Amino acid sequence: MNFEETIKEIYNKIKDIEDNGHSATYIPQLANVSSENFGVYITTTDELGFGLGNCNERFSIQSIAKVLSLCLAYRIVGEKIWDRLGVEPSGSAFNSLVQLETDNGIPRNPFINAGAIVISDILISNLDNPKEDFLAFVRSVSNNTDLNYSSKVADSEKEVGFRNVALCNFIKSFGNIHNDPSDVLDFYFELCSLEMSCKELSEVFLFLANKGRKPIDNTEILTKSQSKRVNALMQTCGFYDESGDFAFKVGLPGKSGVGGGIIAIHPNQYSIAVWSPKLNKKGNSFKGMKFLEEFTTKSELSIF
Ligand code: DON
Repeated sequence: MNFEETIKEIYNKIKDIEDNGHSATYIPQLANVSSENFGVYITTTDELGFGLGNCNERFSIQSIAKVLSLCLAYRIVGEKIWDRLGVEPSGSAFNSLVQLETDNGIPRNPFINAGAIVISDILISNLDNPKEDFLAFVRSVSNNTDLNYSSKVADSEKEVGFRNVALCNFIKSFGNIHNDPSDVLDFYFELCSLEMSCKELSEVFLFLANKGRKPIDNTEILTKSQSKRVNALMQTCGFYDESGDFAFKVGLPGKSGVGGGIIAIHPNQYSIAVWSPKLNKKGNSFKGMKFLEEFTTKSELSIF
């Protein structure tokens, strides 16, 4: 398959379509990023890479980091992790509080904010230096020692993150947060502030297209079964209340972030990252979704 021609053709088409979306501004620092950015990068399991547009510019990966924090917690805790949270799509907005009341503080899945906050709590309980250790894990996954948090973005979210404060305290009231909520939130905001380019993102996530192993040296990040399960969760829960639509139109496991990034995985073949900051009404990148829909249609490389 000639990825380069297909990507070029789709990129040029999507670049010029009318985008009625809006950049996320509820995190003030994200409003400073040009909404005109548009990048895409694919890395295959045989480690061929190709990108276009702003594919080497770093952006705030936000909720995409929730996949990496789940992976580290899953590595440490194993299947017991599911005592603390579920594996069902929520069908609600990423920051909703509603289901927690009837579900006794057990978040539906690890990718809604409630679930990622519980994962943050699990990591704090299990790591000596949570911020440093998580960053070291992310760096080791792609041998990229350059990756970093953005303290500007983390501080900016901390000032306005009242909903996440509410979520964390609400979950704590049910006993499903074990540490001090301010420590949990401090770590959660930090991990959301990770910055990567499309190229770096597709390289970091390649192990999920390779049965849990880093293609470069075959190191195991997750077991085969864990890798399958993380992909299944991305398929069913990666786009919040638009997960069904993404499965329907794109047909790949994936995860979005309010910085406008999307990562999508084809198990056994490739990982592809797209970035365009303007978001649709569900909080997912408008052009990113469109690009991936066309890509799997033209390449006939969805998982279905
Ligand atoms: O907690 C928040 O609201 C952000 N740090 C992350 C949200 C996010 O990326 C949702 N994704 N589309």
